[in-house]
Amino acid sequence: MKPTNASTLEVISPKVRVDNDFITSDYEYQTSHVKRTSSGQLQVHPQTTALKIRTGRHVPKLGVMLVGWGGNNGSTLTAALEANRRQLKWRKRTGVQQANWFGSITQASTVFIGSDEAGADVYVPMKELLPMVEPDNIVVDGWDISGLHLGDAMRRAEVLDVALQDQIYDQLAQLQPRPSIYDPDFIAANQSERADNVIGGTRLEQYEQIRKDIRDFRQRSGVDSVIVLWTANTERFSDVRQGLNTTSQELLASLQANNSEVSPSTIFAMASIAEGCTYINGSPQNTFVPGLIQLAEEKKVFIAGDDFKSGQTKIKSVLVDFLVGAGIKPVSIASYNHLGNNDGKNLSAPQQFRSKEISKSNVVDDMVASNKLLYGPDEHPDHVVVIKYVPYVGDSKRAMDEYTSEIMMGGHNTLVIHNTCEDSLLATPLILDLVILGELSTRIQLRSAENESAPWVPFKPVLSLLSYLCKAPLVPQGCQVVNSLFRQRAAIENILRGCIGLPPISHMTLEQRFD
Ligand code: NAI
Repeated sequence: MKPTNASTLEVISPKVRVDNDFITSDYEYQTSHVKRTSSGQLQVHPQTTALKIRTGRHVPKLGVMLVGWGGNNGSTLTAALEANRRQLKWRKRTGVQQANWFGSITQASTVFIGSDEAGADVYVPMKELLPMVEPDNIVVDGWDISGLHLGDAMRRAEVLDVALQDQIYDQLAQLQPRPSIYDPDFIAANQSERADNVIGGTRLEQYEQIRKDIRDFRQRSGVDSVIVLWTANTERFSDVRQGLNTTSQELLASLQANNSEVSPSTIFAMASIAEGCTYINGSPQNTFVPGLIQLAEEKKVFIAGDDFKSGQTKIKSVLVDFLVGAGIKPVSIASYNHLGNNDGKNLSAPQQFRSKEISKSNVVDDMVASNKLLYGPDEHPDHVVVIKYVPYVGDSKRAMDEYTSEIMMGGHNTLVIHNTCEDSLLATPLILDLVILGELSTRIQLRSAENESAPWVPFKPVLSLLSYLCKAPLVPQGCQVVNSLFRQRAAIENILRGCIGLPPISHMTLEQRFD
């Protein structure tokens, strides 16, 4: 079977069936369960579960509504969709540049598929593994507290080459962000001068307006499915307390009562869930208070986040994994950033910085906890994160990290990394992946193969599959947070492989190691 029309790949297996609606695979899922005996012994029980995994083949026309549409990320995504759709080229000092999606795992990365007769590795584009939304067919809409149209928003962002901007300005100038919910208590006071496009009224009225906007977009654009994604400014954390937002009932009551501690982002998430739309949080704040998570679970709507993992943290989730995996002990991690875009301006306020600091801080925890030979029960590396606003560098964020590790016999190893991030050019492809993989996830279901009458089950509403793209991954209650980039990527690859009846990549290559 050919997973997609564009795919060069065909899976030849009696365990995979394709009909009009689904690709269905018979899948042997292998895991190991560990039990601790009273004497501290670890008993490992390998288990095999026979599953059926099915993936819907009908790719919907996808609409994406961005909160913060007129920001650097929002305008860059819109421009990139247009530029790629028209396959634009433009001249730079160094030659002719063509539009592309570098930095997107779905569009620009490949997946190891197996070895050929000569023993050589064979790769296919990730997007050919399963039917996925084509970026060219995505329709964008959204909200911004700044009323600039997208053409001027793109110019304000100062991200893309001017020769590209000039080719798409007229198209983008026709796109107007919808008025949004502005509460100066949640984003930095320095944002007030942009807030000229806002919805008035109570929180409940604002919520109703956002719901209306989603329905209006759906109807006018003719999209089949809508994802709402927050790429607006970082908010401060909201309080979490009983009576306010610890259950869905409390949260709904707080909205009704116009409680000032219900943040704009939580109102967006509530409206999105009420409209049955997946909601993704690209910023660090705690939009997903416990009551909101419960709401998503009750309505069976996906939520995912938090905070795009684009630059410094991405490196960290690779480097610390490598060090700890190599038996080397990171003892101090000092991270400095300076940036000059509007995100940096917003983060220069203490409460908004605090949200980012929290989001950036926990990224090494699971890797540290994985190695008891290096770390005692409560031992952690020193880890500090500093962010400074330096307007002149604009979107060209600088991230400087120093990793000091203990090596053999009390020796030290210090790695210093200077990373020029080009913030929005790194974040924009992540937004594309988040919506494409978020949409695909709505079409994947599994059930036991042993019981024909067992119901098909979707992913849990807290969509942890998107962790690869998030700095502080939200996972279902009681589940393990995984920050390691390799593990996060392997989860995506192996689940996509499972959907077309291929085993997980083991890298054992026994056929090449034994006669
Ligand atoms: P930006 O400041 O250029 O854009 C944010 C936009 O949101 C602005 O146009 C602003 O007017 C708008 N806005 C603020 N509050 C709003 C509200 N309540 N409703 C609607 N619009 C609102 O920032 P940028 O660079 O696009 O980043 C967006 C978010 O993504 C930030 O929170 C940032 O921390 C987060 N992020 C960005 C990364 C990156 O660019 N590499 C990486 C990780 C997270």
